[in-house]
Amino acid sequence: MLVNGRNTRAIWFDDKKQTIQVINQELLPFEYKIISLNNTQEIYNAIKNMSVRGAPVIGATAAYGVYLAFRESLQNNVIIEDTLIQKIEWLRTARPTAVNLMFAIDWMMQKIKKDSTISNLLSWAKEYAEKDVQDCLKIGKAGLPIIENIYRKKKRTINILTHCNAGWLATGEYGTATAPIYLAHDKGIPIHVWVDETRPRNQGANLTAWELQQHGVPFTIIADNTGGHLMQNKMVDLCIVGSDRTTINGDVANKIGTYLKALAAYDNQIPFYVALPTSTIDFNLEDGVKNIPIEKRNDNELAYIKGLDKNREVQEIRIFPEHVNLINYAFDVTPAKYVTALITEKGIVNTNIKDILSIKP
Ligand code: MRU
Repeated sequence: MLVNGRNTRAIWFDDKKQTIQVINQELLPFEYKIISLNNTQEIYNAIKNMSVRGAPVIGATAAYGVYLAFRESLQNNVIIEDTLIQKIEWLRTARPTAVNLMFAIDWMMQKIKKDSTISNLLSWAKEYAEKDVQDCLKIGKAGLPIIENIYRKKKRTINILTHCNAGWLATGEYGTATAPIYLAHDKGIPIHVWVDETRPRNQGANLTAWELQQHGVPFTIIADNTGGHLMQNKMVDLCIVGSDRTTINGDVANKIGTYLKALAAYDNQIPFYVALPTSTIDFNLEDGVKNIPIEKRNDNELAYIKGLDKNREVQEIRIFPEHVNLINYAFDVTPAKYVTALITEKGIVNTNIKDILSIKP
């Protein structure tokens, strides 16, 4: 996707430098910086600290992590299995909710054989990252007719609400929730996106808004509590969000606050779609509210906020009194009944066990 008019991805392997390159998402929108990830510790830190975040790109980063773990486990051209397993199990713990992390690691591990080489591992990691990009394009193509149908009926700008960042920064290219939006915009359908700021880390205001601006898609940032009011006043035609883990009955874990948007959409008969690759479906879980692990993050994410001061310097300030109780849940679960359907690389899928199992890879 476009950054300063140049085509860019969220993660790639630089063959010249022989290193993994990612956009440091912690710094956006105030600074655009590419960082290199050279070993498993850097991969782990990047996922944990959220320099790299968003379920699919966490998966792609982890796939490169397996390549690096393999490289680091070689001694005199022999793989030390215990070292490899130890590193892999540790990578799995970087973040708990996005199942793409585990999916990517398992995908890579299943390919490893006795005679596998470092170069095999690297090409599989590249293949994984590329598949993610192609899946997002397919998600875009599957979701485009939803927007086209609404446009055909309403013949005016289509207002789409999204939460957090399920854009190309979170995937590789196109995004999941944003893929149909970019395709519709590029086709000339007038689109306007309501971007939830997405407290506490503001991925909507900092990342989704930045992406849309780079691509020229009209948008407005709103405080997280605004969606319900907009929906009641017919200012939202459609909601599309992403997911970090979806169960076989269609329960969807996504960034905290998604559930409230789904409730408001349901009450106002506004379609609420979740866009995701099948690598985000946890085929081992059924009841999402009971079983999806919800990440709790450091309270400081809630208590401190980053922005530009009057001199345009980036500053972080505390916005709450000292010594108050805080709790920082990163995700919530939207029950399947509030989800109109899933938009996947395999097409539109209803949120019921039979249909979801039918797309199992
Ligand atoms: O904590 P984050 O920023 O990794 O959470 C990301 C989200 O909730 C996204 O909506 C989700 O990963 C979908 S990514 C296409």
